[in-house]
Amino acid sequence: MKHNAFPRLAGKVVLVTGAWGGLGRTFVRHLLASRAKVILSDMVEKPVAELAQAGELPAGWEKLVLGQVVADLNSAEGAQALYEACKGIAHVDVVIHNAGIAFLGHYEDIPREKMQLQMRLMLTAPMELTHLFLPDFLQRGSGHFVFVDSVAGFVATPLGTSYSAAKFGLRGFAMALSGEIRRRGLDVTIIYPFFTRTAILKSPTFGKAKIPAMPKIFIDEPDDVIHTALRAVDRRQLHVRPGFYSKFMWQTLRFWPMISSQMQPDKI
Ligand SMILES: NC(=O)c1ccc[n+]([C@@H]2O[C@H](COP(=O)([O-])OP(=O)(O)OC[C@H]3O[C@@H](n4cnc5c(N)ncnc54)[C@H](OP(=O)(O)O)[C@@H]3O)[C@@H](O)[C@H]2O)c1
Repeated sequence: MKHNAFPRLAGKVVLVTGAWGGLGRTFVRHLLASRAKVILSDMVEKPVAELAQAGELPAGWEKLVLGQVVADLNSAEGAQALYEACKGIAHVDVVIHNAGIAFLGHYEDIPREKMQLQMRLMLTAPMELTHLFLPDFLQRGSGHFVFVDSVAGFVATPLGTSYSAAKFGLRGFAMALSGEIRRRGLDVTIIYPFFTRTAILKSPTFGKAKIPAMPKIFIDEPDDVIHTALRAVDRRQLHVRPGFYSKFMWQTLRFWPMISSQMQPDKI
């Protein structure tokens, strides 16, 4: 991992949700390597020493971890509590909306509370948190919202209907928000990872849907995805398609809209 790879982020206070997940902890390590200050939020708190286990970090990195906030983002209260806790820690400059959950199955087999959890966690909670942080950002005339979306946010994914719905919604929200706030000095970045080697790839399946194993060649590494993502954040880019497959799907979709198999229901 290159130290100080993202100079604009050095010294900034960055909140990362889902911080102890596969992409979350990778975000945190790369941010620390560039001497950004971080606030970690997740369902649990963990010893920060765990961050150093996956690779070298710069001297004094522990002091850059400003705090941890345990918050369940499956409720408006969770988002509010996270915002209040952050206010007590530092002025946040960058919010990385990363927390997420996945499961697979035919839509009729998905328990309704699971579908609601997914929509809350991956669409409503980022919208609520953004609404909470936005007035502070506008008052200061700076701030950056980063949304971890997915290729499933532009390619509809059968057997992942509510995941796709949340990610399509998140993309629409983030793009519209960018149109509102960019000229007022604020930034939005939307990241569209393809399959990436984290725990989310072992998510449960409901019902009898047969999910083929994903060949390893199609799976990106978290370090590669997050390096590309943070480079784009540092350069204030709106859309980030990290890795070959994300770019390939985006380009293919532009020229061949029928790639999404929602057009061929008999093949599922
Ligand atoms: N990995 C991929 O293939 C891939 C591809 C495209 C997009 N993404 C997106 O990348 C983001 C990060 O996912 P990941 O791959 O790093 O998966 P992950 O390793 O499962 O991490 C997800 C994190 O979100 C946390 N979380 C779950 N429910 C929560 C809740 N109610 N409140 C607060 N936090 C909660 C999880 O905590 P627990 O572990 O305690 O549940 C976990 O730390 C997600 O938005 C995902 O949709 C991932």
